[in-house]
Amino acid sequence: MKVLTVIGARPQFIKAAPLSRALRTRHREVLVHTGQHYDHDMSRRFFREMRIPAPDHNLGVGSGTHAQQTGAMMVRLEELMVRERPDAIVIFGDTNSTAAAALSAAKLGIPIAHVEAGMRSFNRAMPEEVNRVVADHVATLRFCSTPAAVRHLRNEGIVSGVFLTGDIMADALRLLLPGPERIARILRRRRLEPGHYVFVTIHRAENTDRRENLRQIAGALIGCGRQVVFPVHPRTRGCLERFGLLDRLAGSPDIALIPPVGYAESLALQSGAHAVLTDSGGLQKEAYLLRTPCVTARTETEWTETVASGWNTVTGPRRDAIIAALRRIAVPRRHPAFYGRGDAAGRIVRHMERALG
Ligand code: UD1
Ligand code: UDP
Repeated sequence: MKVLTVIGARPQFIKAAPLSRALRTRHREVLVHTGQHYDHDMSRRFFREMRIPAPDHNLGVGSGTHAQQTGAMMVRLEELMVRERPDAIVIFGDTNSTAAAALSAAKLGIPIAHVEAGMRSFNRAMPEEVNRVVADHVATLRFCSTPAAVRHLRNEGIVSGVFLTGDIMADALRLLLPGPERIARILRRRRLEPGHYVFVTIHRAENTDRRENLRQIAGALIGCGRQVVFPVHPRTRGCLERFGLLDRLAGSPDIALIPPVGYAESLALQSGAHAVLTDSGGLQKEAYLLRTPCVTARTETEWTETVASGWNTVTGPRRDAIIAALRRIAVPRRHPAFYGRGDAAGRIVRHMERALG
């Protein structure tokens, strides 16, 4: 098979790493970077760290409004797909790069394999929810991380081309998780005491772009009474500056605002934390896989099994609720393998071979 993989944002580089390895053992992969993320810390670093082959094409789309970004990607992807004539495309998750590639391929009649299909927040105000619904409905093969995702698709009338494979981030984690000594070194370098600090990431538009939500979250970091380490996403840095919150956070002696970190360091910092505080989808899963309790500063989550099992608390972007959840952190005893065994990549490739090969 000739497979054209489309990626563009940080979590997609991470998800593509294990799948690219599995695909390339028997098939030809053409790797396309849309250019949605472009800072070294948000893009190139992951290619090097995770030994992802250099993209065959970088569309250099960059930032913009949703329509500008998605439209520019579609125009360039269509040209490329016509030229490359792949047997199928692979897309991941729910970003604008995902939706653009899905729409372009669907209209050219090229089969689409959607990895991390069927996730739903049931909140259509999130751009990601729109992107995932579009991608799932035009996809040919849908690879689901959990039984809940399979159910969501069934409820929307999608039953064929649906496969439960486990979550590809479990594969990535298995490949790159540092050993205990390296984790200890990373924590020492950051002057962090194992089990005592909170690892924070915040980047969702609904939290960063609304002054009040970002103010509440910043207030929680200042008031939580723990050491905080917070690698700041470029969107978030811009909003913190715009709303006059950056100096307040930076001036707080217990808060370390740092540039985005590499993948292995992100795993190490999550694994050594007392708790993770985030609005990221990937972080909620990783915290679970690493057995670190999580507090989610959103009003809902797609990863509901982490909440039902007691490992994740959904607080919304509310200072007092976040602080209360961080004070009540407890480590549940049960830890079911919700996300599979880290062998999703091989399963996905085998399903693709059977369906398309
Ligand atoms: C995107 C995805 C989101 C995903 C996140 C992962 C969409 C709609 N959103 O959100 O689902 O969780 O990536 O991190 O696709 N910027 C830079 N440098 C970069 C990239 C972005 O400075 O390398 C800044 C720009 O000001 C840009 C802003 O961040 O306007 C937002 O970037 P964008 O890719 O549009 O959305 P994310 O918030 O990163
Ligand atoms: N991540 C990272 N460095 C950071 C923050 C996050 O490597 O500074 C990793 C994190 O470990 C996870 C992925 O990025 O694997 C999650 O991506 P992100 O939060 O950007 O997007 P989402 O998962 O919300 O779509």
